Amino acid sequence: MVKSLAEAYAYGEVAWPRLIFDGDRPVGFLMAFLNIDWDGKGVDFRSGLWRLNVVADAQGRGVGRFAVESVAAEVRRRGETRMYVTWEPGKDGPEGFYRKLGFRLTGEVSGGETVGVLDLTSFS
Ligand SMILES: CC(C)(COP(=O)(O)OP(=O)(O)OC[C@H]1O[C@@H](n2cnc3c(N)ncnc32)[C@H](O)[C@@H]1OP(=O)(O)O)[C@@H](O)C(=O)NCCC(=O)NCCS
Repeated sequence: MVKSLAEAYAYGEVAWPRLIFDGDRPVGFLMAFLNIDWDGKGVDFRSGLWRLNVVADAQGRGVGRFAVESVAAEVRRRGETRMYVTWEPGKDGPEGFYRKLGFRLTGEVSGGETVGVLDLTSFS
């Protein structure tokens, strides 16, 4: 989280870091990216989820879904219709979680990670 916050500071307005609380207890951390120049060519600007971690003993209770919904709402509020995420491939990774929420694979690989996209026009 410290690394993410340092990155958030360095990247300024494109980073959207948030702690997630259940009552008084912090149960997760997310960081979204907003309108970044995806491939550095100035033509493909994307928003989405950069980091997401739910505290181990709070997993499986809807915190991750809440995090995705929160970023979706913010991205939608900014007038965009898609949100992206990347994850490390592998059976122990979060692919099942993202697919459950409706992300589909774009077919791209970014920095060795699978790229997923969620259509916000049909996500509620
Ligand atoms: C992946 C992670 C964010 C999911 O958060 P979570 O709070 O446990 O997920 P939720 O409880 O909101 O689950 C939402 C739905 O996805 C399902 N789900 C969660 N993890 C899943 C997985 N690995 N495979 C398949 N389905 C999964 C849940 O069963 C739930 O389905 P339901 O709504 O039908 O009950 C969390 O496990 C985590 O922080 N993992 C470690 C770090 C990580 O992988 N972060 C992502 C980096 S990109």
